Amino acid sequence: MPRVLVTGSAGQIGTELVPHLRSLYGKDNVVAAIHKASGGPSLRDGPLVTLDTGDSAAIDGAIREFNVDTIYHLAALLSATGENDPQLAWRVNIDGLRNVLEAARKNGVRKLFWPSSIGAFGPDAPRTNAPQNSPLNPTTMYGVTKVAGELLCNYYFVKYGLDVRILRYPGLISNVAPPGGGTTDYAVEIFYAVLQKGSYVCFLREDTVLPMMYMPDALKATVMLMEAEPKKAPRHLGYNLAAISFSAGELAAEIRTHIPGFTVTYSPDQRQKIADSWPMSIDDSEARRDWGWKHDYDLQRMVADMLAKLRPRLTSEGKGV
Ligand SMILES: NC(=O)c1ccc[n+]([C@@H]2O[C@H](COP(=O)([O-])OP(=O)(O)OC[C@H]3O[C@@H](n4cnc5c(N)ncnc54)[C@H](O)[C@@H]3O)[C@@H](O)[C@H]2O)c1
Repeated sequence: MPRVLVTGSAGQIGTELVPHLRSLYGKDNVVAAIHKASGGPSLRDGPLVTLDTGDSAAIDGAIREFNVDTIYHLAALLSATGENDPQLAWRVNIDGLRNVLEAARKNGVRKLFWPSSIGAFGPDAPRTNAPQNSPLNPTTMYGVTKVAGELLCNYYFVKYGLDVRILRYPGLISNVAPPGGGTTDYAVEIFYAVLQKGSYVCFLREDTVLPMMYMPDALKATVMLMEAEPKKAPRHLGYNLAAISFSAGELAAEIRTHIPGFTVTYSPDQRQKIADSWPMSIDDSEARRDWGWKHDYDLQRMVADMLAKLRPRLTSEGKGV
């Protein structure tokens, strides 16, 4: 069994990835690292450490204490938060990544997972089906850190043989943890707003199409890539990863087939500019060819499952309409 450390465990992905990895590898083999006092109850049934990825000694200490051989490095600032404080985004996303890669190298860690993003693309990438080898010239600090991070990870593979594996996640939709300050957060917020208030004010335009994915597919892709034989995952820069692309208006229309009559108004803010700099869809045929990637959730299935999971929870909490 791998001995795993997950940084950024209390975030949108970590909240679900940690229990998922614990179910696969045993709860004592997956250490959840949280920042400061963050972290929900779902992380507390196995080893838990508090560490700042700016603190190299703390990362070294956690790897040694728990005999870690595999790291999922999720700690980061997301696109919208990163645009509000670009200097902090660089420190957390790049200095933090370098600290984790160095600690991994020095302590004999074998494998490292790091998420890149559709934010790695910029306005000069093809808007539809952006290919694996598109130009990567992002115009956000988040995107800059994703491109630099991919190169840095690949450097550790080439120079030191650290088996780093990278997915360019699309916007992720989850019914468990709230999103952490990204440009695709609207696609989660809308479900809560519709169920709790019967209306939603969307911060993107109605016709904004972005690549998206339901969290169960993201967990599946992450584990598939990490468990693939090395010869099946030869790419140590980011693999494009895709499932569904839809506009904000199309998402609202699909929710309306289950809950008629709610209102959505569109009031684009500064996140529209970020969304407009990203492709609307991604070509992930290399991931499908190399390690057999295939998504399970289309728009209809994702919406039905989100509502089936959220409705009873929000109603039992007395928050539903
Ligand atoms: N969620 C998405 O839609 C999405 C899409 C593409 C890529 N990604 C990438 O996946 C990764 C995880 O994303 P997420 O949505 O879970 O993010 P999130 O914002 O929900 O969680 C990030 C976590 O990092 C922690 N953190 C921040 N600064 C830290 C520091 N200095 N030291 C230690 N921990 C720190 C935060 O406390 C938070 O719990 C990020 O690299 C993100 O760029 C996410």
